[in-house]
Amino acid sequence: MAEKKSEFPALKNDRLLRAARGESVDKVPVWAMRQAGRYLPEFREVRAQYDFFTMCRTPEVACQVTLQPLDRFPLDAAIIFSDILVVPQALGMEVQMKPGEGPVFPSPLSGPEDLDRLCNPKDVCAKLQYVFDAITLTRHKLDGRAPLIGFCGAPWTIMAYMIEGKGSKTMSNAKCWLYRHPEASHRLLKTITDATIAYLVGQVKAGAQLLQVFESHAEHLGPNLFQEFSLPYLKRICDEVKDQVAALDLQDIPMTVFPKGGHFALRELGRLRYEVVGIDWTVDPILARQLVGPNKTLQGNLDPCALYADPIQIDSSVKDMVEKFGCERYIANLGHGMYPDMDPRHLAAFVEAVHTHSTK
Ligand code: CP3
Repeated sequence: MAEKKSEFPALKNDRLLRAARGESVDKVPVWAMRQAGRYLPEFREVRAQYDFFTMCRTPEVACQVTLQPLDRFPLDAAIIFSDILVVPQALGMEVQMKPGEGPVFPSPLSGPEDLDRLCNPKDVCAKLQYVFDAITLTRHKLDGRAPLIGFCGAPWTIMAYMIEGKGSKTMSNAKCWLYRHPEASHRLLKTITDATIAYLVGQVKAGAQLLQVFESHAEHLGPNLFQEFSLPYLKRICDEVKDQVAALDLQDIPMTVFPKGGHFALRELGRLRYEVVGIDWTVDPILARQLVGPNKTLQGNLDPCALYADPIQIDSSVKDMVEKFGCERYIANLGHGMYPDMDPRHLAAFVEAVHTHSTK
Protein backbone atom coordinates (compact mmCIF):
# COMPACT_ATOMS: atom_id res chain seq x y z
CA MET A 1 0.00 0.00 0.00
CA ALA A 2 2.91 2.33 0.69
CA GLU A 3 3.88 2.02 -3.00
CA LYS A 4 0.37 2.93 -4.08
CA LYS A 5 0.38 6.07 -1.98
CA SER A 6 3.70 7.28 -3.33
CA GLU A 7 2.27 7.06 -6.85
CA PHE A 8 0.24 10.20 -6.14
CA PRO A 9 1.76 13.66 -6.71
CA ALA A 10 3.27 15.19 -3.55
CA LEU A 11 1.00 17.49 -1.53
CA LYS A 12 2.03 21.14 -1.88
CA ASN A 13 -0.55 22.59 0.50
CA ASP A 14 -1.16 20.63 3.71
CA ARG A 15 -2.83 23.38 5.79
CA LEU A 16 -6.10 21.46 6.02
CA LEU A 17 -4.45 18.26 7.25
CA ARG A 18 -2.20 20.13 9.67
CA ALA A 19 -5.12 22.05 11.17
CA ALA A 20 -7.18 18.83 11.42
CA ARG A 21 -4.36 17.22 13.43
CA GLY A 22 -3.93 20.27 15.66
CA GLU A 23 -0.57 21.32 14.17
CA SER A 24 0.30 24.97 13.59
CA VAL A 25 -0.46 26.59 10.20
CA ASP A 26 0.74 29.71 8.34
CA LYS A 27 -2.89 30.62 7.54
CA VAL A 28 -6.24 29.12 8.52
CA PRO A 29 -7.30 26.61 5.83
CA VAL A 30 -10.60 27.30 4.09
CA TRP A 31 -13.05 25.48 1.82
CA ALA A 32 -16.82 25.66 1.32
CA MET A 33 -19.46 22.97 1.50
CA ARG A 34 -21.05 22.66 -1.99
CA GLN A 35 -18.09 24.53 -3.49
CA ALA A 36 -18.63 22.48 -6.68
CA GLY A 37 -22.16 23.39 -7.68
CA ARG A 38 -24.69 25.37 -9.61
CA TYR A 39 -23.48 28.82 -8.47
CA LEU A 40 -20.58 28.29 -10.92
CA PRO A 41 -21.45 28.90 -14.60
CA GLU A 42 -18.87 26.29 -15.66
CA PHE A 43 -20.67 23.72 -13.44
CA ARG A 44 -24.06 24.59 -14.98
CA GLU A 45 -22.55 24.11 -18.41
CA VAL A 46 -21.49 20.54 -17.57
CA ARG A 47 -24.71 19.85 -15.66
CA ALA A 48 -26.78 20.82 -18.75
CA GLN A 49 -25.20 17.90 -20.61
CA TYR A 50 -25.76 15.12 -18.04
CA ASP A 51 -28.19 13.77 -15.50
CA PHE A 52 -26.90 14.40 -11.94
CA PHE A 53 -26.11 10.77 -11.10
CA THR A 54 -24.52 10.25 -14.52
CA MET A 55 -22.09 13.00 -13.51
CA CYS A 56 -21.38 11.13 -10.26
CA ARG A 57 -20.88 7.84 -12.12
CA THR A 58 -18.51 9.22 -14.76
CA PRO A 59 -15.09 9.67 -13.12
CA GLU A 60 -13.79 12.16 -15.74
CA VAL A 61 -16.85 14.39 -15.23
CA ALA A 62 -16.84 14.07 -11.43
CA CYS A 63 -13.13 14.96 -11.49
CA GLN A 64 -13.67 17.93 -13.83
CA VAL A 65 -16.34 19.56 -11.61
CA THR A 66 -14.40 18.77 -8.41
CA LEU A 67 -11.51 20.84 -9.77
CA GLN A 68 -13.59 23.77 -11.07
CA PRO A 69 -13.70 25.74 -7.79
CA LEU A 70 -9.95 25.17 -7.23
CA ASP A 71 -9.19 26.73 -10.61
CA ARG A 72 -11.01 29.89 -9.50
CA PHE A 73 -10.21 30.29 -5.80
CA PRO A 74 -7.13 29.53 -3.62
CA LEU A 75 -9.05 26.88 -1.66
CA ASP A 76 -7.23 24.64 0.80
CA ALA A 77 -9.27 21.51 -0.01
CA ALA A 78 -11.12 19.77 -2.81
CA ILE A 79 -14.19 17.63 -2.03
CA ILE A 80 -14.99 14.82 -4.43
CA PHE A 81 -18.09 15.48 -6.49
CA SER A 82 -20.69 12.85 -5.53
CA ASP A 83 -23.71 12.65 -3.23
CA ILE A 84 -24.55 11.03 0.11
CA LEU A 85 -27.43 9.22 -1.64
CA VAL A 86 -25.17 6.94 -3.70
CA VAL A 87 -25.12 4.64 -0.64
CA PRO A 88 -28.91 3.98 -0.56
CA GLN A 89 -28.68 3.52 -4.34
CA ALA A 90 -26.01 0.87 -3.84
CA LEU A 91 -28.25 -0.76 -1.22
CA GLY A 92 -30.81 -1.23 -3.98
CA MET A 93 -33.04 1.85 -3.80
CA GLU A 94 -33.83 4.01 -6.80
CA VAL A 95 -33.00 7.72 -6.39
CA GLN A 96 -33.66 10.44 -8.96
CA MET A 97 -32.39 14.03 -8.81
CA LYS A 98 -35.23 16.28 -9.92
CA PRO A 99 -34.20 19.79 -11.01
CA GLY A 100 -35.75 22.36 -8.68
CA GLU A 101 -36.97 19.67 -6.28
CA GLY A 102 -33.86 17.78 -5.16
CA PRO A 103 -33.55 14.04 -4.56
CA VAL A 104 -36.63 11.80 -4.86
CA PHE A 105 -36.98 8.08 -4.04
CA PRO A 106 -39.91 6.75 -6.12
CA SER A 107 -40.40 3.80 -3.70
CA PRO A 108 -39.32 4.82 -0.20
CA LEU A 109 -39.33 2.29 2.67
CA SER A 110 -42.89 2.20 3.98
CA GLY A 111 -42.49 -0.25 6.87
CA PRO A 112 -40.10 -2.76 8.46
CA GLU A 113 -41.13 -5.45 5.93
CA ASP A 114 -39.45 -3.32 3.23
CA LEU A 115 -36.03 -3.94 4.81
CA ASP A 116 -36.02 -7.22 2.86
CA ARG A 117 -35.72 -5.13 -0.32
CA LEU A 118 -32.21 -3.97 0.64
CA CYS A 119 -29.05 -5.64 -0.68
CA ASN A 120 -26.32 -7.05 1.52
CA PRO A 121 -24.14 -4.15 2.77
CA LYS A 122 -21.08 -6.29 1.90
CA ASP A 123 -21.92 -5.80 -1.78
CA VAL A 124 -22.06 -1.99 -1.87
CA CYS A 125 -18.36 -1.41 -2.54
CA ALA A 126 -18.45 -3.25 -5.85
CA LYS A 127 -21.32 -0.97 -6.92
CA LEU A 128 -19.52 2.18 -5.79
CA GLN A 129 -16.30 1.51 -7.67
CA TYR A 130 -17.06 4.59 -9.80
CA VAL A 131 -16.59 6.82 -6.72
CA PHE A 132 -13.24 5.18 -5.96
CA ASP A 133 -12.18 5.66 -9.59
CA ALA A 134 -13.21 9.34 -9.45
CA ILE A 135 -11.18 9.81 -6.25
CA THR A 136 -8.04 8.19 -7.69
CA LEU A 137 -8.29 10.17 -10.93
CA THR A 138 -8.87 13.42 -9.03
CA ARG A 139 -5.85 12.81 -6.75
CA HIS A 140 -3.72 12.65 -9.88
CA LYS A 141 -5.30 15.66 -11.60
CA LEU A 142 -5.14 17.76 -8.44
CA ASP A 143 -1.37 17.42 -8.67
CA GLY A 144 -1.02 18.05 -4.93
CA ARG A 145 -2.58 21.53 -5.04
CA ALA A 146 -4.78 20.67 -2.04
CA PRO A 147 -5.92 17.55 -0.18
CA LEU A 148 -8.97 15.65 -1.42
CA ILE A 149 -11.91 15.13 0.96
CA GLY A 150 -14.10 12.03 0.72
CA PHE A 151 -17.50 11.91 2.40
CA CYS A 152 -20.69 10.05 3.25
CA GLY A 153 -24.03 10.68 4.93
CA ALA A 154 -24.43 9.54 8.55
CA PRO A 155 -26.78 6.59 9.09
CA TRP A 156 -29.71 8.56 10.57
CA THR A 157 -29.57 11.12 7.72
CA ILE A 158 -29.56 8.32 5.11
CA MET A 159 -32.35 6.43 6.93
CA ALA A 160 -34.47 9.59 6.95
CA TYR A 161 -34.15 9.92 3.14
CA MET A 162 -34.89 6.22 2.59
CA ILE A 163 -38.16 6.54 4.53
CA GLU A 164 -39.28 10.07 3.61
CA GLY A 165 -38.34 9.60 -0.05
CA LYS A 166 -37.56 13.32 -0.36
CA GLY A 167 -36.78 16.35 1.78
CA SER A 168 -39.21 16.95 4.64
CA LYS A 169 -39.79 19.80 7.11
CA THR A 170 -40.68 17.47 9.99
CA MET A 171 -39.16 14.04 9.12
CA SER A 172 -42.29 12.67 10.79
CA ASN A 173 -42.38 9.44 8.74
CA ALA A 174 -38.77 8.61 9.61
CA LYS A 175 -39.25 9.63 13.26
CA CYS A 176 -42.40 7.49 13.38
CA TRP A 177 -40.09 4.48 12.81
CA LEU A 178 -37.88 5.53 15.76
CA TYR A 179 -40.88 5.55 18.12
CA ARG A 180 -42.99 2.76 16.64
CA HIS A 181 -40.35 0.37 15.22
CA PRO A 182 -37.19 0.95 17.28
CA GLU A 183 -35.85 -2.57 16.62
CA ALA A 184 -36.33 -2.29 12.84
CA SER A 185 -34.82 1.21 12.99
CA HIS A 186 -31.68 -0.19 14.60
CA ARG A 187 -31.55 -2.97 11.98
CA LEU A 188 -31.75 -0.39 9.19
CA LEU A 189 -29.15 1.87 10.85
CA LYS A 190 -26.84 -1.12 11.24
CA THR A 191 -27.17 -2.04 7.56
CA ILE A 192 -26.38 1.54 6.53
CA THR A 193 -23.46 1.70 9.00
CA ASP A 194 -21.93 -1.56 7.71
CA ALA A 195 -22.17 -0.28 4.12
CA THR A 196 -20.77 3.12 5.10
CA ILE A 197 -17.72 1.73 6.91
CA ALA A 198 -16.76 -0.37 3.87
CA TYR A 199 -17.44 2.60 1.59
CA LEU A 200 -15.22 4.99 3.58
CA VAL A 201 -12.36 2.49 3.82
CA GLY A 202 -12.67 2.10 0.03
CA GLN A 203 -12.39 5.89 -0.33
CA VAL A 204 -9.18 5.92 1.74
CA LYS A 205 -7.72 3.09 -0.38
CA ALA A 206 -8.63 5.09 -3.49
CA GLY A 207 -6.80 8.20 -2.24
CA ALA A 208 -9.12 10.30 -0.03
CA GLN A 209 -7.05 12.35 2.44
CA LEU A 210 -9.76 13.35 4.95
CA LEU A 211 -13.28 11.96 5.42
CA GLN A 212 -16.36 13.97 6.37
CA VAL A 213 -19.52 12.36 7.74
CA PHE A 214 -22.62 14.54 7.17
CA GLU A 215 -25.32 14.17 9.86
CA SER A 216 -27.44 16.74 8.03
CA HIS A 217 -30.66 15.83 9.85
CA ALA A 218 -29.37 15.93 13.43
CA GLU A 219 -31.72 18.82 14.18
CA HIS A 220 -34.75 16.54 14.03
CA LEU A 221 -33.53 14.23 16.78
CA GLY A 222 -32.97 16.21 19.99
CA PRO A 223 -30.65 14.87 22.71
CA ASN A 224 -32.48 11.62 23.59
CA LEU A 225 -33.11 10.33 20.09
CA PHE A 226 -29.59 11.43 19.08
CA GLN A 227 -28.11 9.41 21.94
CA GLU A 228 -29.95 6.28 20.85
CA PHE A 229 -30.17 6.48 17.06
CA SER A 230 -27.23 8.59 15.88
CA LEU A 231 -24.30 8.68 18.32
CA PRO A 232 -23.60 4.90 18.52
CA TYR A 233 -23.44 4.65 14.72
CA LEU A 234 -21.25 7.76 14.34
CA LYS A 235 -18.92 6.22 16.93
CA ARG A 236 -18.80 2.84 15.17
CA ILE A 237 -18.03 4.49 11.82
CA CYS A 238 -15.05 6.43 13.18
CA ASP A 239 -13.69 3.55 15.31
CA GLU A 240 -14.00 0.89 12.63
CA VAL A 241 -12.78 3.02 9.72
CA LYS A 242 -9.70 4.00 11.72
CA ASP A 243 -9.07 0.42 12.86
CA GLN A 244 -9.49 -1.04 9.36
CA VAL A 245 -7.29 1.65 7.78
CA ALA A 246 -4.57 0.82 10.34
CA ALA A 247 -4.97 -2.94 9.75
CA LEU A 248 -4.45 -2.34 6.00
CA ASP A 249 -1.21 -0.48 6.77
CA LEU A 250 -2.61 2.69 5.25
CA GLN A 251 -1.87 6.09 6.76
CA ASP A 252 -4.36 7.25 9.41
CA ILE A 253 -6.40 10.10 7.96
CA PRO A 254 -8.38 12.75 9.84
CA MET A 255 -12.15 12.43 10.07
CA THR A 256 -14.79 15.15 10.46
CA VAL A 257 -18.30 14.80 11.83
CA PHE A 258 -20.80 17.52 10.91
CA PRO A 259 -23.99 17.38 12.98
CA LYS A 260 -26.13 20.02 11.29
CA GLY A 261 -28.57 21.46 13.83
CA GLY A 262 -27.06 19.19 16.49
CA HIS A 263 -25.76 21.79 18.96
CA PHE A 264 -27.05 19.54 21.79
CA ALA A 265 -24.65 16.79 20.66
CA LEU A 266 -21.39 18.76 20.58
CA ARG A 267 -20.14 17.67 24.00
CA GLU A 268 -20.70 13.96 23.24
CA LEU A 269 -19.17 14.26 19.76
CA GLY A 270 -16.06 15.84 21.30
CA ARG A 271 -15.44 12.53 23.06
CA LEU A 272 -15.34 10.40 19.88
CA ARG A 273 -12.20 9.79 17.79
CA TYR A 274 -13.14 12.30 15.04
CA GLU A 275 -10.37 14.91 14.82
CA VAL A 276 -12.71 17.62 13.50
CA VAL A 277 -16.24 18.67 14.48
CA GLY A 278 -18.23 20.77 11.99
CA ILE A 279 -20.28 23.61 13.48
CA ASP A 280 -23.36 25.09 11.81
CA TRP A 281 -24.01 28.83 11.82
CA THR A 282 -26.51 28.78 14.68
CA VAL A 283 -23.80 28.02 17.28
CA ASP A 284 -21.57 30.68 18.80
CA PRO A 285 -17.90 29.72 18.13
CA ILE A 286 -16.84 30.37 21.73
CA LEU A 287 -19.60 28.13 23.08
CA ALA A 288 -18.71 25.48 20.46
CA ARG A 289 -15.09 25.42 21.76
CA GLN A 290 -16.28 25.01 25.33
CA LEU A 291 -18.64 22.18 24.43
CA VAL A 292 -16.36 20.24 22.07
CA GLY A 293 -13.26 20.68 24.24
CA PRO A 294 -9.68 21.77 23.55
CA ASN A 295 -8.36 18.67 21.75
CA LYS A 296 -10.51 18.85 18.63
CA THR A 297 -10.38 21.03 15.54
CA LEU A 298 -13.55 22.98 14.74
CA GLN A 299 -14.81 23.64 11.22
CA GLY A 300 -17.32 26.31 10.18
CA ASN A 301 -19.45 28.31 10.53
CA LEU A 302 -20.37 31.49 8.63
CA ASP A 303 -24.08 31.68 7.82
CA PRO A 304 -24.11 30.72 4.10
CA CYS A 305 -26.51 33.62 3.51
CA ALA A 306 -23.80 36.04 4.68
CA LEU A 307 -22.39 35.50 1.17
CA TYR A 308 -25.32 37.57 -0.13
CA ALA A 309 -23.80 40.63 1.58
CA ASP A 310 -21.30 42.84 -0.23
CA PRO A 311 -17.61 41.82 -0.10
CA ILE A 312 -16.78 44.52 2.51
CA GLN A 313 -19.38 43.10 4.88
CA ILE A 314 -18.18 39.56 4.12
CA ASP A 315 -14.68 40.64 5.11
CA SER A 316 -15.85 41.98 8.46
CA SER A 317 -18.03 38.90 9.19
CA VAL A 318 -15.04 36.65 8.46
CA LYS A 319 -12.75 38.75 10.66
CA ASP A 320 -15.19 38.36 13.54
CA MET A 321 -15.50 34.60 12.91
CA VAL A 322 -11.73 34.03 12.78
CA GLU A 323 -11.21 36.07 15.97
CA LYS A 324 -13.78 33.97 17.81
CA PHE A 325 -12.51 30.57 16.61
CA GLY A 326 -8.81 31.55 16.77
CA CYS A 327 -6.13 30.48 14.28
CA GLU A 328 -5.22 27.14 15.91
CA ARG A 329 -7.31 23.97 15.55
CA TYR A 330 -9.61 25.72 13.11
CA ILE A 331 -10.77 25.12 9.52
CA ALA A 332 -12.85 27.96 8.07
CA ASN A 333 -16.02 27.05 6.17
CA LEU A 334 -19.64 28.05 5.89
CA GLY A 335 -22.13 26.72 8.43
CA HIS A 336 -23.82 24.73 5.61
CA GLY A 337 -23.64 24.50 1.81
CA MET A 338 -23.64 27.27 -0.78
CA TYR A 339 -26.82 28.10 -2.71
CA PRO A 340 -27.15 28.16 -6.52
CA ASP A 341 -27.90 31.90 -6.68
CA MET A 342 -24.70 32.98 -4.92
CA ASP A 343 -22.14 35.17 -6.67
CA PRO A 344 -18.80 33.36 -7.15
CA ARG A 345 -17.00 36.67 -6.46
CA HIS A 346 -18.45 36.60 -2.95
CA LEU A 347 -16.93 33.18 -2.31
CA ALA A 348 -13.64 34.68 -3.52
CA ALA A 349 -14.06 37.46 -0.93
CA PHE A 350 -14.76 34.85 1.78
CA VAL A 351 -11.63 32.81 0.97
CA GLU A 352 -9.42 35.89 0.73
CA ALA A 353 -10.74 37.27 4.03
CA VAL A 354 -9.97 34.01 5.86
CA HIS A 355 -6.39 34.00 4.62
CA THR A 356 -5.90 37.73 5.28
CA HIS A 357 -7.29 37.73 8.81
CA SER A 358 -5.41 34.61 9.85
CA THR A 359 -1.92 35.28 8.46
CA LYS A 360 0.72 35.20 11.16
O1 CP3 B 1 -19.06 20.46 -3.57
C1 CP3 B 1 -19.46 19.61 -2.75
O2 CP3 B 1 -19.85 19.88 -1.60
C2 CP3 B 1 -19.34 18.14 -3.12
C3 CP3 B 1 -20.50 17.50 -3.60
C4 CP3 B 1 -21.72 17.23 -2.73
C5 CP3 B 1 -23.02 17.18 -3.29
N1 CP3 B 1 -23.86 16.72 -2.34
C6 CP3 B 1 -23.35 17.52 -4.68
C7 CP3 B 1 -24.72 17.94 -4.99
C8 CP3 B 1 -21.82 16.88 -1.38
C9 CP3 B 1 -20.75 16.85 -0.30
C10 CP3 B 1 -23.19 16.54 -1.15
C11 CP3 B 1 -23.68 16.05 0.15
C12 CP3 B 1 -25.13 15.97 0.38
N2 CP3 B 1 -26.11 15.57 -0.50
C13 CP3 B 1 -25.74 16.20 1.63
C14 CP3 B 1 -25.01 16.56 2.91
C15 CP3 B 1 -24.71 18.00 2.96
C16 CP3 B 1 -25.93 18.84 3.24
O3 CP3 B 1 -26.32 19.58 2.32
O4 CP3 B 1 -26.44 18.76 4.36
C17 CP3 B 1 -27.13 16.02 1.47
C18 CP3 B 1 -28.20 16.18 2.52
C19 CP3 B 1 -27.34 15.61 0.12
C20 CP3 B 1 -28.61 15.25 -0.53
C21 CP3 B 1 -28.93 16.21 -1.60
N3 CP3 B 1 -28.30 16.24 -2.82
C22 CP3 B 1 -29.91 17.23 -1.57
C23 CP3 B 1 -30.82 17.55 -0.40
C24 CP3 B 1 -29.85 17.87 -2.79
C25 CP3 B 1 -30.78 18.95 -3.27
C26 CP3 B 1 -30.41 20.28 -2.76
C27 CP3 B 1 -29.75 21.04 -3.85
O5 CP3 B 1 -28.73 21.70 -3.57
O6 CP3 B 1 -30.28 21.02 -4.97
C28 CP3 B 1 -28.81 17.27 -3.55
C29 CP3 B 1 -28.37 17.66 -4.89
C30 CP3 B 1 -26.95 18.01 -5.11
N4 CP3 B 1 -25.88 17.38 -4.54
C31 CP3 B 1 -26.48 19.01 -6.00
C32 CP3 B 1 -25.08 18.99 -5.93
C33 CP3 B 1 -24.11 19.83 -6.71
C34 CP3 B 1 -27.34 19.90 -6.89
C35 CP3 B 1 -28.16 19.05 -7.80
C36 CP3 B 1 -28.14 19.42 -9.24
O7 CP3 B 1 -27.12 19.82 -9.80
O8 CP3 B 1 -29.21 19.23 -9.82
